[in-house]
Amino acid sequence: MSKKIFSGVQPTGNLHLGNYLGAIKNFVELQNDKENQCIYCVVDLHSITVKQDAKILKRNIRETTATFIASGLNPENSIIFNQSTVSAHAEVAWILGCVSRMGWLSRMTQFKEKAGKDKEKASVGLYVYPVLMAADILLYDATHVPVGEDQKQHLELCRDIAQKFNNDFNAPNFLKVPEPLIQKQFSRIMSLKDGLKKMSKSDPSDLSRINLTDDKDLIINKIKKSKTDTLPMPGINDDLKKRPEVQNLLGIYSNLSNQSIDKVKDEFQGKNFSIFKDKLSELLVDKIDPIGKRIKDLLKDENYLDKILAKGSQKANNLATKKINEIKTLVGF
Ligand code: TYM
Repeated sequence: MSKKIFSGVQPTGNLHLGNYLGAIKNFVELQNDKENQCIYCVVDLHSITVKQDAKILKRNIRETTATFIASGLNPENSIIFNQSTVSAHAEVAWILGCVSRMGWLSRMTQFKEKAGKDKEKASVGLYVYPVLMAADILLYDATHVPVGEDQKQHLELCRDIAQKFNNDFNAPNFLKVPEPLIQKQFSRIMSLKDGLKKMSKSDPSDLSRINLTDDKDLIINKIKKSKTDTLPMPGINDDLKKRPEVQNLLGIYSNLSNQSIDKVKDEFQGKNFSIFKDKLSELLVDKIDPIGKRIKDLLKDENYLDKILAKGSQKANNLATKKINEIKTLVGF
């Protein structure tokens, strides 16, 4: 069955291995199934929920676009655009905001994490951020949304919003209730320094993540310095619950080498960590370094990247305009 795919990535710089393995690698696989219609969005409106420097934001929008292309997305096969160029996103977010309940948003764990202790000082945008995310998805009648595990709750909210809109406006199945596409394994890549914390662009330590633009030496150094423990490498029957860092590194190896975790455990059982780390570095350099080089190359041609976004924006606008007009009619505008 053909799927309508929508997903987004924030242009906040430092896209990392978690973004790649949890989301972007999946975007490419979905695009390569010719049956699917794929829309991938650089969600710049989302990024300003925390303060951004205008010049850096502009660069980051291009860098995220370059990352999409360098990872294998093809603008001829997928619609690639940045959110702020399709005004229907913000308009629909307003309408859906009037359907959503405060109680639903108050339960969002990502807001609680990002707002920290001083919620009063968080932007209103950060609070209503998941409503904008719902607008992104529902505007295109997306049937499937590939994301990492951290976005699961936002997708459940999106489903609730769609159903409530359809009920409130007596329009059964008008907004399509989307399915999340979250991988069973590797949907949450963890920090290289703390196996209980998600790998994240906002972690103050650069050693906690592999950025997609890290060069060979940096990658090798970060893996060398990544946290492990004093026990030897585990075997198939060893439980890794108490060894989250080891589990994470094995998971990364397994994903990048397209082998099961058991196969990887079997290969390295009882060996010294340094042997495994050397192999993991080799694999990362092999897979990530070419992407990083391509991103840097693409960034030299801003015109090319801007053209991709402009073309994508035109296509996205055509789809979005039709849907928002229907939404406005239902609402009574
Ligand atoms: P963002 O920009 O934080 O992350 C982009 C994608 O990367 C995934 N991800 C991870 N996956 C595995 N392990 C990690 N450590 C890791 N870190 C990030 C995220 O789950 C995400 O899929 N709200 C979204 C962007 C968005 C969106 C949308 C997504 C806006 N509108 C509509 C889907 C549909 C976000 O902030 O992702």
